Amino acid sequence: MSSQIICVAQQKGGAGKTTLVSNLAIAFLQAGKSVALLDTDPQGSLGKWLDVREEALGVNDRLQFATATAYGISRAIRGFSDKADIILIDTPPKADSDVRWVLRDSDLVLVPVSVSQADVWATHDLLDLADRADKPTYLVMNRTRAGTRVGEQVSKSVAELETAKLQASLANRVIYAEALGNGLGVLEAKSTKSAKDEVRALADEVFALLEP
Ligand SMILES: Nc1ncnc2c1ncn2[C@@H]1O[C@H](COP(=O)(O)OP(=O)(O)OP(=O)(O)O)[C@@H](O)[C@H]1O
Ligand SMILES: [Mg+2]
Repeated sequence: MSSQIICVAQQKGGAGKTTLVSNLAIAFLQAGKSVALLDTDPQGSLGKWLDVREEALGVNDRLQFATATAYGISRAIRGFSDKADIILIDTPPKADSDVRWVLRDSDLVLVPVSVSQADVWATHDLLDLADRADKPTYLVMNRTRAGTRVGEQVSKSVAELETAKLQASLANRVIYAEALGNGLGVLEAKSTKSAKDEVRALADEVFALLEP
């Protein structure tokens, strides 16, 4: 088994990196894949999410976890490779050398962009790093609000970036914050069909990108 490595990165804090990682992890698990989570963010939100999860649901052997920074990142990725179908890497709100270490080893880079101009502005340095690392990179629109002026403005700015965007996006929904706090993915939470459908659509699109 050769692991496929997905990095979720965005310099802007609160854009939805940990939300994207946790929800993709559960979608992959539900699809029968084994998942290794690597948290390179000293804030440790992903580890806290997993602590809450394991307290409620017990340990799942198909969901491994490690933290790492700097040189430890490549070592942690090597430690996971061949032990999980997918390695999902959460990163800090920075575009620094740690993120460069992650990008070097990644097969796919996802960049969540919350619907605000500040998120779009903050994306440039990270996109530059991903471009230099020569990795397939996709923007993922998060916290979308249909029919708002800010939504339209941000879509226009994103279209002007020379980076592809996933067709699927995540709407602004309280269930994302609730599920994160409860150690769950939206696919497992008491959420609406539309929330589950959008997470499934996102995971399917990511799956398709990973296929050789
Ligand atoms: N689509 C969404 N709808 C509603 N709330 C959301 C959505 N996405 C993220 N959030 C909430 O926004 C906050 C920030 O999200 P998250 O922690 O995933 O961002 P982050 O990019 O990992 O932040 P940091 O840069 O601090 O690591 C969290 O409280 C999360 O629950
Ligand atoms: Mg985070």
